[in-house]
Amino acid sequence: MAIVAAGAQVEADPAGAVAGTVVPRHVAIIMDGNGRWAAAKGLPRVAGHRAGVQAVRRAIETAAELGVQWLTLYAFSSENWRRPLSEVMDLTGLLRHFLKSEIAELKAEGVRLRFIGDRARFERDIQFDLGAAERDTAGNTRLNLVIALSYGARAEIASAARAVAEAVRAGTLDPAEIDEARFEAFLSTQGIPDPDLIIRTSGEQRLSNFLLWQCAYAELVFLDVLWPDFGPAQFADALAEFARRERRFGARPG
Ligand code: FPP
Repeated sequence: MAIVAAGAQVEADPAGAVAGTVVPRHVAIIMDGNGRWAAAKGLPRVAGHRAGVQAVRRAIETAAELGVQWLTLYAFSSENWRRPLSEVMDLTGLLRHFLKSEIAELKAEGVRLRFIGDRARFERDIQFDLGAAERDTAGNTRLNLVIALSYGARAEIASAARAVAEAVRAGTLDPAEIDEARFEAFLSTQGIPDPDLIIRTSGEQRLSNFLLWQCAYAELVFLDVLWPDFGPAQFADALAEFARRERRFGARPG
């Protein structure tokens, strides 16, 4: 993955902007605003999604530079299948291209990939490339990159509940032993720390069925920037805002 030197977007020094502050271990991003970005420029929506992929590359690079250990990107929700077929094909086409063109470089950069969501809904070649990307990067430790694809939090929780019920029926799980830790072992994010910070771009302020269990204590930062314009400076702004928050996890101050 090339370090994107896209003019003004790298003028800020994100590492400097957050030096000496607490860097969140896990940042999760709802990438919103590709369509509006394209419309504002009189371009087709696919141009916004293409520019969105460039912003994905920048975000991965910036996260690694800033010392974020886990980065989760909401690339395709389970509800996105309801978009017109042409847009779904554009998005899956971009995903296919991303998997073919970026994985070798991500691997070389020390990025470990993992995908969450219902991958069975994608075409077979994409499913194959998702598995290959996970296997090929399994030894990497610099940055854990989780990409949510055909992901919906309610479906994830329902699926976990079903698996719990099946384990109880099979006699391998005692209902009395089901607690938060046991339950979350059935989620697709098993082994991934909860996000500390959720960023949503485009000015919208909602979670849109993203990581509903996992974000119980996440700090939420909503940015008035469209996803294709998200770069190191905006990432640093979000981390600076995170550093100003006092996290109490339900306890009293001090
Ligand atoms: C939201 O913008 C964005 C999406 C639905 C898709 C996000 C996808 C990418 C950034 C590119 C693909 C990613 C990878 C990893 C290959 P929107 O279309 O909802 O924008 P709008 O709300 O302005 O219409």
